[in-house]
Amino acid sequence: MMENNRVSPIEINKEEFRKIGYQLIDSISNFLDTIKARPVTPGESPTQLQKIIGTSSLPENGTSAETLFSKTCGLLFNHSLLNGHPKFLGYITSSAAPVGALADLLAASVNPNVGAQILSPIATEIEKQTVRWLAEFIGVSPDYGGILVSGGNMANFTAFLAARTAKAPKNVKEDGISNAETKMVLYCSKTTHSWIEKAAILFGLGSKAIRWIKTDAANRMDNEVLEQTIKNDLKNGFKPIMVIGTAGDVSTGVVDNLKGIASICKMYDLWFHVDGAYGIPAAVIPEQKMLFQGIEDADSIALDPHKWLYSPLEAGCTLVKDPNHLIDTYSSHPVYYNFSNNDEALNYYEYGLQNSRGFRALKVWLTLQQVGRSGYVKMIGEDIQLSKLFFVLADDHPELEAITQNLSITTLRYMPSDYNHHGEKKEVYLNKLNEDLLNELQRGGEVFLSNAIVMEKYCLRGCIVNFRTSKKDIEDIIEIIVREGKKMHHRLQEKEA
Ligand SMILES: Cc1ncc(COP(=O)(O)O)c(C=O)c1O
Repeated sequence: MMENNRVSPIEINKEEFRKIGYQLIDSISNFLDTIKARPVTPGESPTQLQKIIGTSSLPENGTSAETLFSKTCGLLFNHSLLNGHPKFLGYITSSAAPVGALADLLAASVNPNVGAQILSPIATEIEKQTVRWLAEFIGVSPDYGGILVSGGNMANFTAFLAARTAKAPKNVKEDGISNAETKMVLYCSKTTHSWIEKAAILFGLGSKAIRWIKTDAANRMDNEVLEQTIKNDLKNGFKPIMVIGTAGDVSTGVVDNLKGIASICKMYDLWFHVDGAYGIPAAVIPEQKMLFQGIEDADSIALDPHKWLYSPLEAGCTLVKDPNHLIDTYSSHPVYYNFSNNDEALNYYEYGLQNSRGFRALKVWLTLQQVGRSGYVKMIGEDIQLSKLFFVLADDHPELEAITQNLSITTLRYMPSDYNHHGEKKEVYLNKLNEDLLNELQRGGEVFLSNAIVMEKYCLRGCIVNFRTSKKDIEDIIEIIVREGKKMHHRLQEKEA
């Protein structure tokens, strides 16, 4: 029989919580304080890591939380890739704001379910304010509504479905798209992130519905070709529904001509979506604002606080000019929900794919206040300056070729000075050399870069969304690339000999 005062193995009393909590915070503070001196990654293989974790079966009995945390801190600190390291410039994952870590602890402790206002009274208001601030941050009307989601893919999916509901042939909600008389099609440039293919496949349009528009000399969507393709589709009986403009492409950071896309969308009554998952926070910088002209006309925008707003994973955001499109798409009223009896309430389950939702807005809300707009102008501006420095140093170096620089992304490649072949043979060799070099750098733990293919050249790619990176780091990284590039070149030459 259960006793009057129930004793649960999962509960932790106040004293124990304090003790473990203080120890944990001490360990985390030391970790963050020493992050620069650690390797970016230990580069261990899955087999090595499996040995560390062991193969024991599910524990039958419990272990004290204190023991677990002291073991797990070491496990994570010593066997992780540290994207908070100043020399981590890979993909588009930022150094995480320390305030975000504390915010996640606080959010999980209160644990509001931000699916319905009644379940999360203050958290819902905080999310609403966060969404409003994000709209202000990038310079669109604060009347855009929206929702926080897990990241860029989900932010784009959330908008994609709203566009489909708004622009699909009528009755598509009841009849499904297979019964639509005309086939829906959509438009984006060849540089669009892979979310678009996932969305077209998952949400029933099919990958053939994507019209991949070629890019111009500046690698932006060619808006003349876009318009011509729309006209052809209309002539051939297709149903164009949306155009996706990219505000900072994942490989090289190029921003499409958004103003031009906006006017084409207006002319043909199409939904205008902007994928600003990576780049759109740069619109906060006065000198960069011009680049983003046209976002104020977007029907929807994806942006990712876990990229260039330095939020810990996971935090994405969908902004929609008229949030009623979200309600049209996602709202449902099951009988077991008693959430609709207050006209003032905003129930976030009606704005997106999730019903139960965590409080990811808190970390974004607190960081926006911790640093303010001016703090972000400084950090994002410095990231861009460092990226430009990376390009200039590569350009000046006899053994490096600087390829592109946009926003905070630089691409470059190692070019040995003693390689005498020319033409195609040289290009094939350089691609192999730089690919092998990247793999070596990623394993080595001194620096973490990723790759991009630009004009068929295999490039090393540095994306600086990292408030810890300094000028000295960029200078060091140049030296590391050249040193390791030389070694790799000699290794390949020996193999070829
Ligand atoms: C432009 C763009 N869109 C979407 C995404 C997908 O974001 P996530 O990885 O957070 O789903 C990325 C990721 O790098 C991106 O750069």
